[in-house]
Amino acid sequence: MRDSSGRRVLIVDDSPAFTEALKRLVMAEGFTAEVVHDSEAVVGAVAQFTPDVILLDVELPGASGFEVCRRLKRNEATRLIPVVLLTGLVGREHRLAGIEAGADDFLTKPFDSSELTARVRSLSRLKRYTDELESAESVIVSLALTVEARDAYTEGHCERLSTYAVALGRAIGLPADDLWALRKGGLLHDVGKVGIPDAILLKQGKLTAEEYEIVKAHTVIGERLCAGMRSLALVRPIIRQHHERLDGRGYPDGLKGNAISLLAQIIGVVDAFDAMTTDRPYRTSLGLERALEELRGDAAKGAMDPMLVNQFIDLAPGLCRPAPAPSAAGGATQAVAAPVAMSAGPSGLRLVG
Ligand SMILES: [Fe+2]
Repeated sequence: MRDSSGRRVLIVDDSPAFTEALKRLVMAEGFTAEVVHDSEAVVGAVAQFTPDVILLDVELPGASGFEVCRRLKRNEATRLIPVVLLTGLVGREHRLAGIEAGADDFLTKPFDSSELTARVRSLSRLKRYTDELESAESVIVSLALTVEARDAYTEGHCERLSTYAVALGRAIGLPADDLWALRKGGLLHDVGKVGIPDAILLKQGKLTAEEYEIVKAHTVIGERLCAGMRSLALVRPIIRQHHERLDGRGYPDGLKGNAISLLAQIIGVVDAFDAMTTDRPYRTSLGLERALEELRGDAAKGAMDPMLVNQFIDLAPGLCRPAPAPSAAGGATQAVAAPVAMSAGPSGLRLVG
């Protein structure tokens, strides 16, 4: 069987004669090929055909190949698909425009057919590796969600953390790579709890000092679980350091100040907020205002960065809304944080849809 068997190439060019020739060329190499002639049809074709490599003409009618490439590379679902720009434009400025658009390779028309097929084969192999990497990441994320599912009280916690952390990261102007790490970090921060026995993790009463030491180890276990994955390099410090405090009274390493990664500090702030605004076995939700007050207190005590806390306090009302007032017999209204677009938790919180 050819290495390229089952791999797919999407060809985007407005010339039917040219696309037919390209299609024959890549199919002779064992690829499956699909053609679109219109830049506006690319996104739909990519979603349907899920190509491993895209050969994209620069001079398309409508949106240019540069613009199409930029859109594909901005989209989380398509950013890892290699894009080869095909161009008759040989100027340096055009190559720079292609690089800025995120293209993985260029071929100048007219091109050598052996060179084209060699590059497609090579990029298709690269895509296979990234697919495998993504599968490994999915396993880790599934593990994290399985951990969360063991405890009904933390339902939706990881997704909420991702939402809050990305919103806070965006508010302070972090770049896309950091926002990606925050999203993953929200999902994976507690994956190490897979190594903590249920009897301790789900214990209803107060933990003994010895049990607390065991729980603390989830940070180290989680980091080790992801240690072999270079794609999670930015996420590992989040997993290990999300319980550290600026004053050095956190765990597992008792790090202080800037020794704690900024991304871990962000997850630390939103993790504390989410814990306070959801019901736990040992107490009910504190409510939005009280939780924000506690965060202010933590910043004043030197446990959290005041800039992060203040930014989050500005954002929190937009991310959350008060739960509906209980029935007349139910007592006073309680403000409860609820995340955007999440399923109802064990406390029956109403969520912003
Ligand atoms: Fe944790």
